[in-house]
Amino acid sequence: MPPSVQSILKKHQVSPSIMLLFKMDRASLLLLIGFCCFSLIFVGSLLVREEEEPVKSIPTTLSGPFTPVTVPLDHNFRGNAIDLPSDDPRLQRTSAKAFEPEQISISLSTNYHSIWISWITGEFQIGDSIKPLDPDSVASVVQYGKVKSLDKVHSQRAEGYSLIYNQLYPFEGLHNYTSGIIHHVKLTGLSPDTVYYYRCGDPSIGAMSDVFRFKTMPVSSSQNYPKIGIVGDLGLTYNTTSTVTHLIKNNPDLMLLVGDAAYANLYLTDGTASDCYSCPIHETHQPRWDYWGRYMQRLTSKVPIMAIEGNHEIEEQVNNTMFASYSARFAFPSEESGSKSTMYYSFNAGGIHFLMLGGYTSYDKSSDQYKWLQRDLAKVDRKVTPWLVGVWHPPWYNTYAAHYKEVECMRVALEELLYNAGVDIVFNGHVHAYERSNRVYNYTLDRCGPVHITVGGGGNQEQMAVKHADEPGHCPKPSSTPDRFMGGFCAYNFTSGPAAGNFCWDRQPEYSAYRESSFGHGILEVKNETHALWSWHRNQDMYNVAGDQIYIVREPERCLVRAPPPVMVWDE
Ligand SMILES: [Fe+2]
Repeated sequence: MPPSVQSILKKHQVSPSIMLLFKMDRASLLLLIGFCCFSLIFVGSLLVREEEEPVKSIPTTLSGPFTPVTVPLDHNFRGNAIDLPSDDPRLQRTSAKAFEPEQISISLSTNYHSIWISWITGEFQIGDSIKPLDPDSVASVVQYGKVKSLDKVHSQRAEGYSLIYNQLYPFEGLHNYTSGIIHHVKLTGLSPDTVYYYRCGDPSIGAMSDVFRFKTMPVSSSQNYPKIGIVGDLGLTYNTTSTVTHLIKNNPDLMLLVGDAAYANLYLTDGTASDCYSCPIHETHQPRWDYWGRYMQRLTSKVPIMAIEGNHEIEEQVNNTMFASYSARFAFPSEESGSKSTMYYSFNAGGIHFLMLGGYTSYDKSSDQYKWLQRDLAKVDRKVTPWLVGVWHPPWYNTYAAHYKEVECMRVALEELLYNAGVDIVFNGHVHAYERSNRVYNYTLDRCGPVHITVGGGGNQEQMAVKHADEPGHCPKPSSTPDRFMGGFCAYNFTSGPAAGNFCWDRQPEYSAYRESSFGHGILEVKNETHALWSWHRNQDMYNVAGDQIYIVREPERCLVRAPPPVMVWDE
């Protein structure tokens, strides 16, 4: 009798799984073969599809100007942001003793070798009877070093200064405010691109903070660039917390806040929420600033924050005092950059020179700001800092109905100077949405003009900007547009292009490349002296997803920098 197939296979030690095939009846075998064929076809089709769909490439500004894009509003994600209540655990004082540091933050000086550490000690007071604290009653000391054990061997010590500010409303029934003691200490002689550990406070009374860490900026050169997170109009809402969480996940080396931080002026002095802009006295509830500082410490104690003023920082009070909280709480490299004001200054971060400009202080050609800007631009060496970036709060190229052509006087005063200096990118806030322009100068597409980017969607309590000035019925009246605080009227009809003779376009203007009403933040990653990757991250997306992305490409050979007009000796 001939041996069976199974016995032959067994004799030759064939795999049990193959032997199983020979044990199957014909129907099962056909079923298995069919399944295998189907699987092969399915996997094959996936492979073919992958080949057909190339990986989405990131566009560059060299292929612009782009046809304007408006991303439709996601109605599941409207901008009804709600403020965190004052009893939210994240807004409470965490330090046990009154003079232990809180609201700790870091700011850059003009270069990698110096950095500011700021914090607050003591309790703020609010009410009818307040007694300002003595700033000299607590020392301003920072112990720091390159190793975490900040003992006497490993640590250095720096001392700074302290101040308080008051927010006073001398009217019946309104509460006055006096701040805790605000400390600012400058660390100098730091190494570039280096992690330092620090703690701050007053060691003589045992009131020192935990140990935190920061990383210095790289040396300024065409090869070195930090990763920069950019937000505007943050406020302190549940949407703000989403923005900040997304920003932290992107791990920036530096953070720019393009104005409008705490929104304390959306409250009356008694803490009642109010948005009464037309009231004779525009009150504020200054403890909202303290809540904001406490919440932001998770980011600002590790990552330097560079802020510029917005309209919510005006905060008028007695004797026409303004910007008191903003000017006292943040540290600015004003003096280091030759500015006499907290309202405008400049600094280097790696190969980028940042111009932090004031939209709420004089900017005309006879102003201190204009003269300072001329001097500052004259000192910029593009071999050391190839990138020149402007940052201010109210945008010039904004196509939303909100704040449309609001700061035309600022644009008229400064645009030519910045264009001739070869500014590459401008970042703004103010409008609570996202918008990226094509390269533009004087409302005309210009290959050498800056890319203007509005990132005002930080998540504050005010509504998201949704309406566009070019939609029927949404074009504002020219007389209603000038910024009330700065005054002046410079907003005229367009003189050329498809909208000539009109105040608004009848479609998305050609200078607007991309706009989307959404909350989020941006990340700027400069790769070299010509290429920078810009990514807009929306709060509704996963942490690593970019909503809008583009390589901003400089063309230094094509776009020659013209020397700024000479600064008169008597202007110095
Ligand atoms: Fe604003």
